[in-house]
Amino acid sequence: MIERTFVMIKPDAVGRRLIGEVIARYEAKGLKLVGLKMQIISRELAEKHYAEHHGKPFYPALVDFITSGPTVQMVWEGEEAIAVVRKINGATNSREADIGTIRGDFGLTVQKNIVHASDAAETAEREIALYFGPGELWDYSLPDEAWLRE
Ligand code: RTP
Ligand code: MG
Repeated sequence: MIERTFVMIKPDAVGRRLIGEVIARYEAKGLKLVGLKMQIISRELAEKHYAEHHGKPFYPALVDFITSGPTVQMVWEGEEAIAVVRKINGATNSREADIGTIRGDFGLTVQKNIVHASDAAETAEREIALYFGPGELWDYSLPDEAWLRE
């Protein structure tokens, strides 16, 4: 099934000049970029985004970190995009993430783990709406799509 998922490149990866490396992974897999922006997110938005983690010990540091610098917001589309992107990103703890994943190849910490991605269909819908208006997502065809769909 063709899905859309929300991905954010976190401040550590922007600061380490890894935006291109991250985007290249999703493009090489055959996913299609349908929305893209850059912003330093407000505390209010960060708290909405990470509401599920409210009250956990790592929550205050997480909100501090995610609002600490520029981030890149994206929506990627493709066959089972939600699960595929989670797989490309790797495990939350970058040191345990498999080599070949984004976190496994570029990260060394749990918190500063390069990327965020939606973990389920409802989460994807919620997170896309949090960051993108309907006029900011694009429907378009690419000539290689026949090779990338079931
Ligand atoms: P994400 O939401 O960013 O895609 O990451 P995830 O699903 O793999 O991990 P999640 O459990 O949702 O945690 C969200 C983010 O919080 C930071 N974190 N710190 N023990 C800790 O210090 C801890 N645990 C999680 C990470 O930045 C994680 O990506
Ligand atoms: Mg998560």
